[in-house]
Formats: sequence, C-alpha cells, structure tokens
Amino acid sequence: MVSEEKIDKFKEAARIIKSAKYLVVFTGAGISAESGVPTFRGDNGIWKKYDSNVLTLSYFIEHPEESWKAQKEFFDIILNANPNYAHIALAELEKKGILKSIVTQNIDNLHQKAGSENVFEFHGTMKTVTCINPRCMHKYKTEELDLTNLPPKCEKCGSVLKTDICFFEENPPEPAKSLSFQEASKTDVMIIVGTSGVVHPAALLPVTAKENGAKIIEINPDSSLLTIYGTTDIFLQGEAGEVMKKIMEEME
Ligand code: OAD
Ligand code: ZN
Repeated sequence: MVSEEKIDKFKEAARIIKSAKYLVVFTGAGISAESGVPTFRGDNGIWKKYDSNVLTLSYFIEHPEESWKAQKEFFDIILNANPNYAHIALAELEKKGILKSIVTQNIDNLHQKAGSENVFEFHGTMKTVTCINPRCMHKYKTEELDLTNLPPKCEKCGSVLKTDICFFEENPPEPAKSLSFQEASKTDVMIIVGTSGVVHPAALLPVTAKENGAKIIEINPDSSLLTIYGTTDIFLQGEAGEVMKKIMEEME
C-alpha cells in the first residue's frame, strides 16, 4: 500500500514537473529493467555475469573477440526489447512540450523507440561501429555487420571494428558530453530515473543541475549515491513504470 507521505510526494513532484520551465530527464539502466534489459550492477546485473573488462578499452584492444562476444549478446537483447511505460510517458511529456530533453547513459535505443526526439546519448551508441585504425576510422551500421565471426573487421583496411559505446578508459563522446552538461546547466527541474550514480562523469550531471539551482526528483526502487549524498530533493521509491504512472495521473 502507498503511504500518505508517499502520496504527498507524488503530488509535490507532479506540481514541480508541471511548473518546470526547462525539464530535463537523466536516465540509467534501471529505466529499461521493466523492458527486460538487465542493469549493470545489482543481483542480476551484467557485471555479475561478465567482468567489466569486456567494456574496458585496453582489454578490448587485446581481446576483441571476448569483448565482442559479450557485446553481441547484449546487442541481441536490446534489438528485441520494447520501450516500457516509463519510456513512453517521457516521450509523451516531450510531445506536450513539458520535457525539453533526455540525457541517457543507456545504449539500448529505447527512448528513441518510444518516440523521444531530443535524446543525448552520454555513453554513445551501439547502433554504429568505428574502425580502430586511426588512419581509417570508417563507420558502419552495426545491424549491417556480419557477426558470425568475431570480431568484425573493417572492409577498407582489415582492422578490428569497435562499437561506438563509451568504454571504461574512454571519454564520453562529443558533442553528446558537452551538450548534456549544457542541458544540466539550463534545467530548473531534473528527473533522474534508474541510475546508481556511481559512474563518472555521468553522475556529475545531476550535481551540475543542482548547483545551478534545479530541483532534483529521483525515481529508483533503491537509494543511489545521488540519494545518499543529498543531491536528490524528492525521492520517489519504486520501479520506473509504476512511479511514472502515478506522476502522470497526478498531472492530469
Ligand atoms: P546501474 O546498473 O549501475 O544501476 C541501475 C540502477 O537502476 C540502480 O540504482 C537500481 O536500483 C535501479 N533500478 C533497478 N530496477 C529499476 C526499475 N525497475 N526502475 C527504476 N530503477 C531501477 O546502471 P547505470 O547507473 O545506468 O556504462 O550505470 C551507469 C553506467 O555503468 C552505464 O551507462 C554503463 C555502466 O558501466 C557504460 O557502458 C559506459
Ligand atoms: Zn578501417
């Protein structure tokens, strides 16, 4: 049962969202959990099954086949995944002109599949790959690659291809990184959905928003580092879909 205190929090969050002048939403893997996409951390997380080396640049350079095996498995999951209520509600808020942009750490394309248009992919994308040869750097669409023999190689120069995901030891891609920080500086209300807040510099986006005077609303079944360190002003505990439904009802 939802407690009285919780109901008030939802009303308060809905009121703040409605009155926002520049609403920005910052999402992590948790928003896609209800779409069947595993999160990274936690009991059923990807880092329980794989060592995080598979997404570490130096490991990738030495063991591209191992890294690609793990990535291909993830790619197959996200190709077949569908947006859930939370993705759809955010796309609706954009159409209504309430939400201005989404900054996502996710590479699953589910915001775009739900119809969101102004999406900044802070950790890059799995939709494209780039040849690692600095003199070539040819780009391909991942879905057009033959992934039967891993790692896939460049047709132009024969070097290994790497997905355009931001790996550990890499900087987030530009211009997504700068534009995301611009959004965080502009926003007066930021909703954070489903991130543990442990990966930097992504976790600095809500901190930047708060430093610029934004109200921070967080949706997560568990506390994140952003809750624990007091970046969050209103913590709405629960799964993304369930909580977004309550917010949308309160906003009617
Ligand atoms: P994590 O796996 O670190 O955290 C997922 C968060 O989602 C946790 O705080 C969970 O409590 C929460 N969560 C779980 N189920 C949820 C649900 N149904 N609704 C809402 N929240 C839920 O994922 P991220 O914070 O996104 O980087 O991880 C950050 C980065 O670490 C990722 O972008 C990835 C990874 O290494 C790269 O791949 C570059
Ligand atoms: Zn090449």
